[in-house]
Amino acid sequence: MTDLIYLKDSYRKTLKTKILKAERKGDVLLVVPKDCIFYPQGGGQPSDTGRIKGKSSEARVLHARMSGGNVVLECSLTGTLNAGDAVECTVNWDRRFRNMRRHTAGHVIHEAVMSVTAGLTPLRADHGDNPFIEYAGSITRDKTDPIEVKANEIVARDLPVTAEFVSFDQLSEKAAFIPPHLPNNKPLRIVTIEGYRPVPDGGTQVSSTGEVGPIRITGIENRDDKVRVEYAINEESKTDTTQEEGGISAQEIISLLLEVQSSAFSLIDSHERSADDLRIRLLGSKSPLTGLTRKIRSIPKSDASRVGIVANEVKKSIEQKLSGYIRPELLNREAAASPDLPDSDTDRGYFDPTEPGSSPPVGHLHIVSQAITEITDIFARIGFSRVRHPEVDWDWYAFESLNMPLSHPARDEWETFFIEYPGTRPPEKGKFTRIVLTPHTSNGQVREMEKGELPIRMINIAKCYRRQSDVSHTPMFHQFEGLYVDRGVSIAHLKGVIMYFARSFYGSDREIRLRPFHFQFTEPSFEIDVSCGICHGKGVPPGGSVCRLCKSGWLELGGAGMVHPNVLKAAGIDPKIYNGFAFGWGVERTYMMKSGTKIDDLRILYGNDIRFLEQF
Ligand code: PHE
Repeated sequence: MTDLIYLKDSYRKTLKTKILKAERKGDVLLVVPKDCIFYPQGGGQPSDTGRIKGKSSEARVLHARMSGGNVVLECSLTGTLNAGDAVECTVNWDRRFRNMRRHTAGHVIHEAVMSVTAGLTPLRADHGDNPFIEYAGSITRDKTDPIEVKANEIVARDLPVTAEFVSFDQLSEKAAFIPPHLPNNKPLRIVTIEGYRPVPDGGTQVSSTGEVGPIRITGIENRDDKVRVEYAINEESKTDTTQEEGGISAQEIISLLLEVQSSAFSLIDSHERSADDLRIRLLGSKSPLTGLTRKIRSIPKSDASRVGIVANEVKKSIEQKLSGYIRPELLNREAAASPDLPDSDTDRGYFDPTEPGSSPPVGHLHIVSQAITEITDIFARIGFSRVRHPEVDWDWYAFESLNMPLSHPARDEWETFFIEYPGTRPPEKGKFTRIVLTPHTSNGQVREMEKGELPIRMINIAKCYRRQSDVSHTPMFHQFEGLYVDRGVSIAHLKGVIMYFARSFYGSDREIRLRPFHFQFTEPSFEIDVSCGICHGKGVPPGGSVCRLCKSGWLELGGAGMVHPNVLKAAGIDPKIYNGFAFGWGVERTYMMKSGTKIDDLRILYGNDIRFLEQF
């Protein structure tokens, strides 16, 4: 059980203690301290943030919450922290002090409301960025000034605020009211402003009302037998919770994004605001989400895309939740939360029959279909049209016309499936003898040339089949084949087209290189490499050792070359007048290289496991 020091001494800013438990959860370290000065979110008061220093490590506390009788601190960590370690904790005091002032301001306003009105029962309160207290009953607007005057009078008298731990019996005897649900995981405590009746409270308070400073009542909103008194205090020392010295890390932004998501969900679930209001608060230019998204610019580029993806997901999830939103007027719910309780639906213990049903899952195109569309679009912009050629084809198109007669050893590279000829056997000689499942898209080269239209700018994307199935091969896969045939085509054109593709597909900072290679149907032949997006061609990412993605700085795209004269001849084109280039690459491979995804077993692509497919 964590000893809750913040309850006994709200002014404690640093503390030496021990770690009871430390557990990694992804990039976040969950720490349970023996003694705790960090306030765990609840009762309308936001969580504290801060730091924990160990012997050779430092953790930033991003969020604190109560779990069982323990406080769990969600931290980002440099170094190591283990159970048993001695540590020094420091609270982000600006944030905490502001929250304490807001919290005590709430109690002061409550007393002011009680003295100016009658017949109101407190329901709940929030001491976050838009603080309020909510009552059952109503208050007319003309009470705004009297409440504000009374509250500021209590502040001006600088009355002591004290706290005391109590048993349930003592609490029911002393307290001005008992909230319908008392927390069962925190000690019971009452807080008293001198001269007023004690109020049940589990938060942190300033020690006298004078520390709150001037209070403004910013709104009195009556709705459905409930009224909300909204207020503000002077916050000139307002500190941005994310702006601690030394900048913010990728992991911290991610944790804060998740925090923003869960508080957005709670706000939406509370059905207290109109959809427009929610949209502005949660997604508008001044929303915490937008603020965090802006911060992505300040972190290293290599992390930014990862964080960007999370930010987008969070945004999407909020948008989606809002799209099924029911206006508060349509809901007739019994609010039963207390000023000191977290506000989740389960805590309130009701079932809401008007809650929108969960929307049916919406599918999307398979990753390979997405890649095909993208590749087609890129080449279309430079005049290449997508064409289709047979995926079950004559051996002649797949091999012989490509300068690989029947017994040629180069054929072995394509572990080909042969198909039995349906019906009457074809003649044993000539073009149309044996049939294959196309082992590459190069069968489209001569077929395209045979159409008789020149020049040719084709992109042939099709299924290919090879007798291979292991972690890096699936027996069916896709290739895209580019072919350009015209007068005076040179390697410079080949390089230009490939560069255009690589930069459109992978990003404008990418380079390509050509390595000499051999294919029977191109001369000269090359293998094309593209510079690695993680280490940028260096083989060593910034601050790291050998690049885990490419190891050498370059990733292999696939084969290319200048069309062999024999191939042109096979299609009846005069190689003295025309020439061209061709390239043929695997769609799956090319796409995986883009996302930097390393798949241990490529066969998962076609395994139809929805958990995998949904990620793309
Ligand atoms: N067809 C070749 C392969 O499957 C690739 C290639 C296509 C090479 C076009 C050069 C020109 O490996």
